[in-house]
Amino acid sequence: MNLFDVYPLYNVTPVKAKGCYIYDENDIEYLDLYGGHGVISVGHSHPDYIAKLKAQLDKIGFYSNAIQNPLQIKLADKLGKVSGCPEYNLFLCNSGAEANENALKLASFHTGKTRIISFRNSFHGRTSAAVAATDNPKINAPINKQQIVTFLELNDADAVEKELKKGDVCAIIIEGIQGVGGLDQGTTAFFKTLESLCEKQDIILILDEIQSGYGRTGKFFAFQHHGIKPDIITIAKGMGNGFPIGGVLIAKKLKASYGLLGTTFGGNHLACTAAISVLEIIEKENLIENVNEVSDYFLSEMKQFSQIKRRKGKGFMAGVEFDFEVGDLRKQLIYDHHIFTGGAMNKNLLRILPPLTIKKEHIDTFVSALKEILN
Ligand SMILES: Cc1ncc(COP(=O)(O)O)c(C=O)c1O
Repeated sequence: MNLFDVYPLYNVTPVKAKGCYIYDENDIEYLDLYGGHGVISVGHSHPDYIAKLKAQLDKIGFYSNAIQNPLQIKLADKLGKVSGCPEYNLFLCNSGAEANENALKLASFHTGKTRIISFRNSFHGRTSAAVAATDNPKINAPINKQQIVTFLELNDADAVEKELKKGDVCAIIIEGIQGVGGLDQGTTAFFKTLESLCEKQDIILILDEIQSGYGRTGKFFAFQHHGIKPDIITIAKGMGNGFPIGGVLIAKKLKASYGLLGTTFGGNHLACTAAISVLEIIEKENLIENVNEVSDYFLSEMKQFSQIKRRKGKGFMAGVEFDFEVGDLRKQLIYDHHIFTGGAMNKNLLRILPPLTIKKEHIDTFVSALKEILN
C-alpha cells in the first residue's frame, strides 16, 4: 500500500529528538525552530514527560468515556489554574479541528442560529464547519459549502457590527494571532469590541488558541494580552507536546446535556497524562517567562538584518518578513545549516515556533546561519 500523497516533504528523516534538537538517521543534529508546527511546547523527549507517560502506559492507556476518569478532572483543575481561566468547563477531544468543530456546534446549539463570522486569512482546521470558517477555497470541498460563513477583514469593527445586526449569527471565530495566515492579529480595541458586541447580542465569541495558546505568545493565551474573556477557547497543539489531544474551554452560560458532544478517544488516560505533564513542566520551568525573555532577545537580534522588513507576532509565535520569498532560504537553513523554520501564506514570512524551552544560544546559532546566507 502506498501513502496518500498530500504532503510535500523535506528530505530529512528524524529518528530521535531531545530538547530543541532533532536527529536524523545519520545522527545529524537539527535545531528545531519550528516545533513540528508549534506543537512541541516543553521540548522533545522531556524526561518528566516520558516518565509519566511510561508509568501510565504500565497502568491503563485507554478506556471509553463511559467510566470515571480522575485524570480528566485533574487535567481540568490544573489547566484552570495554570491558564488563569478556572471558571470554564472543559471538553476533551483529539485535535485542533475537532476542538473548533465542537466549539462551532456548541455556539449553534446555544443560539439556534447558523451563520459564522470569520476573518480573512484565517485557518481553523480541515473538518466540516472548521474548514468552512477557514479562508482558503482550495481546501474547501463542494460539500463544505453548505456552512454559512462570512469572512470579514481583521480589525474592521464596523463590518462586524453590520453583519451581527442581521440577527442570524451564532459565532464569531478568531485566532489569538493568525498562524498559517501570517501572524496578523486583532488590536485590543477590536477584541474588546467583539467581546461587547457578542455579549450584548448573545453571540458566541470563540478564541482559537490552538496555535497561539499554551504560553507561546508570552501569556498562557494570546487573548490575555487584550484583557477580554471569550465564551469559548479552543486548544490543541502545545497541549500534549506531540501527544494528540485537543480541548474546548466553555463558559458556564453554555449548558451541557448528556450526549450533546462526544468522542471515543478524547480525554483518554494517556492523553490526559501527557497534558498534565506539559502543564507541570510549563509551571516548574517558568517557560512563559522564558518565552518573554528569549523572544525579546530574538527580536533585537533580528534588527541587524536589513533584508528584514517587519517583525511580526508575539513571543515565540514569531515571524520575520523579508524583502524576498523565503522558500529557498528555508531550504538553505535546513540542508546547509540544519535549522528547521516555518513558512506561511505570506511567502516572504519566515515563522519561528520553537519549543518554549528555547535558549539564547539557539538564537545565536540561527543568527550565525542567517549572516552566512544573507551577507
Ligand atoms: C489556529 C489553528 N486552528 C486550528 C488548527 C487545526 O488543528 P489540527 O491540525 O490539530 O486539526 C490549526 C493547525 O495548524 C491552527 O493553526
